[in-house]
Amino acid sequence: MAHIIDGKKIAAATRAEIAERAKKLTEETGIVPGLAVVIVGEDPASKVYVRNKKKACEEAGFYSRVIELSEDTPEAELLSRLEEIKADPKIHGILVQLPLPPQIDPDKVIAAIPPEKDVDAFHPENVGHIMIGDYRFLPCTPAGVMKMLETEGIEVRGKNCVVIGRSNIVGKPMAMLLMHADGTVTICHSKTKNLAEITRRADILVSSVGKAGFVTADMVGEGAVVIDVGMNRNAEGKLCGDVDFAAVSEKASAITPVPGGVGVMTITMLLENTVRAAEAAAGRA
Ligand code: GUN
Repeated sequence: MAHIIDGKKIAAATRAEIAERAKKLTEETGIVPGLAVVIVGEDPASKVYVRNKKKACEEAGFYSRVIELSEDTPEAELLSRLEEIKADPKIHGILVQLPLPPQIDPDKVIAAIPPEKDVDAFHPENVGHIMIGDYRFLPCTPAGVMKMLETEGIEVRGKNCVVIGRSNIVGKPMAMLLMHADGTVTICHSKTKNLAEITRRADILVSSVGKAGFVTADMVGEGAVVIDVGMNRNAEGKLCGDVDFAAVSEKASAITPVPGGVGVMTITMLLENTVRAAEAAAGRA
């Protein structure tokens, strides 16, 4: 049976450290870290994420603003709301929840966020920093995964790391962080041939596909570490990851559950980026 990596426990310890950092900053400079979260439309998953982000901010002693815009908001209006948010001195981090409705070009919106407030690390300038390995902000989900591996004492150096998914949010930056940690990284995606053959060779397997039950036991090698980034609903409407947890945990040496795995770590790293942005604004790089 695999060891179950407890994301909630790791997140709680990390959030306590972040809250302490925020408290110190506020005591010494009067600055309270502030995060603005913009959501356009009614996507149910996005609404849950945004609610959790706001709650996490409150618990860490941050200031937060949630800006809710209707599904039919024109791109120009979102961009002008961003101008107002950018000018708010209480805000150090700005995040626009993705996906956006079709009339809005996400690339234009991401480019409109000042890189020093881009706590998602989605702006091309920050993506460039990630590629170079000289991080300003760490990409939240991949950074959460790295924090879990580190806390669990799972060495990446020299390991075969296989990432399923090549998104800008997870797959690509995940591969970069694993490579910078001296892993040998393979990125697989929907056009990959003989996927199971590749994933079976993984010492560390990260799945960010977005399909319930995608990673089956025959795709996992004996003793692998399996990290499930998926956030899906199964046929009964229950929250689940990409991995067939029951069968895969018989083979893996360690595995992250959904919920209680990567998801809570993502928000934790967002808090870390926000406190970092506030510290930088206070002249403490
Ligand atoms: N949608 C799904 N994950 C994320 C994320 O990490 N940041 C933003 N802005 N939108 C998302």
